[in-house]
Amino acid sequence: AETHYHEFVVQAKPVKRLCRTHNTITVNGQFPGPNLEVRNGDSLAIKVTNAAKYNVTIHWHGLRQLRNPWADGPEYITQCPIQPGATYTYRFTIQDQEGTLWWHAHSRWLRATVYGALIIYPKLGSPYPFSMPKREVPLLLGEWFDRNPLDVQKLAAFTGGAPNASDAYTINGQPGDLYRCSKQETVRIPVGSGESILLRIINSALNQELFFSIANHRLTVVSADASYTKPFTTRVLMIGPGQTTDVLLTADQPPAHYYVAASVYQTARNAPFDNTTTTAILEYKSAPCSSKKGQFPPPALPLLPAFNDTATATAYTAQIKSPSQVKVPTQIHENLFFIVGLGLNNCTVPNNPRCQGPNNTRFAASMNNVSFVFPRTNSLMQAYYNGVPGVFTTDFPPVPPVQFDYTGNVPRGLWTPRRGTKLYKLKYGSNVQIVLQDTSIVTTEDHPMHLHGYHFYVIGSGFGNFNPRTDPAKFNLVDPPLRNTIGTPPGGWVAIRFVADNPGVWLMHCHLDAHLVLGLAMAFLVENGKGPLQSVIPPPADLPRC
Ligand code: C2O
Repeated sequence: AETHYHEFVVQAKPVKRLCRTHNTITVNGQFPGPNLEVRNGDSLAIKVTNAAKYNVTIHWHGLRQLRNPWADGPEYITQCPIQPGATYTYRFTIQDQEGTLWWHAHSRWLRATVYGALIIYPKLGSPYPFSMPKREVPLLLGEWFDRNPLDVQKLAAFTGGAPNASDAYTINGQPGDLYRCSKQETVRIPVGSGESILLRIINSALNQELFFSIANHRLTVVSADASYTKPFTTRVLMIGPGQTTDVLLTADQPPAHYYVAASVYQTARNAPFDNTTTTAILEYKSAPCSSKKGQFPPPALPLLPAFNDTATATAYTAQIKSPSQVKVPTQIHENLFFIVGLGLNNCTVPNNPRCQGPNNTRFAASMNNVSFVFPRTNSLMQAYYNGVPGVFTTDFPPVPPVQFDYTGNVPRGLWTPRRGTKLYKLKYGSNVQIVLQDTSIVTTEDHPMHLHGYHFYVIGSGFGNFNPRTDPAKFNLVDPPLRNTIGTPPGGWVAIRFVADNPGVWLMHCHLDAHLVLGLAMAFLVENGKGPLQSVIPPPADLPRC
């Protein structure tokens, strides 16, 4: 195994998109940031220097960081932010993980432009469970704001209204030729006729689940969230923010140019192939020109589902399974039921500019009716480790034992979340089941839920209210997929299981950043176990202080 040293200098740099130049926060002047390539078992030391004017942290999304929460990165959870002018070196080892993950800023909305791929190859000599093509192409799907994304976030936080939508979706930072001033830079993927390539698709968009498709081609899914899957073939993927999907693509169509496209799922604004569709072009090297001028005929467009095509999204996600039988914990020690969703806080002063929700309210989001509040003076992990009282409480509430109609007539008491920094304590080594239930307060919506420090088996999901008497009988305990981010279906529920074998403080949140800033988050405090292999390692000397 090797140790990889990298330097990340977080700095502003002019970036031109959609005809305009913005001073953009980048890593080493690159947007998107650098893609890292390592092997399972390798160690990394990434020295992050903050040369920008905002606080920053970096999160290694999906990496387990066993006993090493200090390297996880969410600000005020496992570390204080790296302040302007300061430096912090993230040190960690890849332990039994391979596939596609990614890294991103975990500080306000900086991840809009501060992100890159983290590609983990198998150990030397260890095979892939599929025939690995010679070539691979990472495709990072993102969003571009034609203004400072932090201003968009600030405005939404101030008004308590919905944030402004981004101005473009992107593939590897480029909107593609359906957007203004973007034709020249459209990402091109050259292929030889008959060649196979691996696409590593990452949804790094801030606030948007996306459909993804390539005209005329079938895609074979082989891995999701850096866990191998039973291969299956599809024409369309649905990928939520935070999720990754590896697919095999064979250039088996007549030599020509084909659009690679991603379009929105679950939003009220969209028509196929308008400027909410980002494109790249798959270019067969032997494609014939159509005229003497050397012009290629326009690329074929893929069939993308409509923005509200929940049936396609659901059917696609249900196909993702582990390659063979897996060991799902069966004896459950912690059986948790969390409701997730939006809420409204009443405002007392009429026409308060801070209250732009319906009927003089502010939007909020919560889990079990608690809007998560990030501390400002300490990180939860440092407070836990040093025994500092008063930074958090461990009274994250259970929901009432009564079965409400969460997706219909939600009890009024659950409309107005309380604010708090409340953790849920888990015993080291306990088997945990969580059912996440969406509510219909304000609106039903898919919430891509991400758990730090863990991956989990997704054992079931459905629409409507979870029924604790009948639904568990339908759980897949044989070959459920292992993931780090899973959508709670709009007006539905999803059930996950994991063993609490990683001590520390671990954030769980909606990976739509618009919901994260409204409080759709909570954190687990997984207690230290007995031996050195069950306890958190000591904090590094350069860990930032608040
Ligand atoms: Cu990829 Cu807490 O995030």
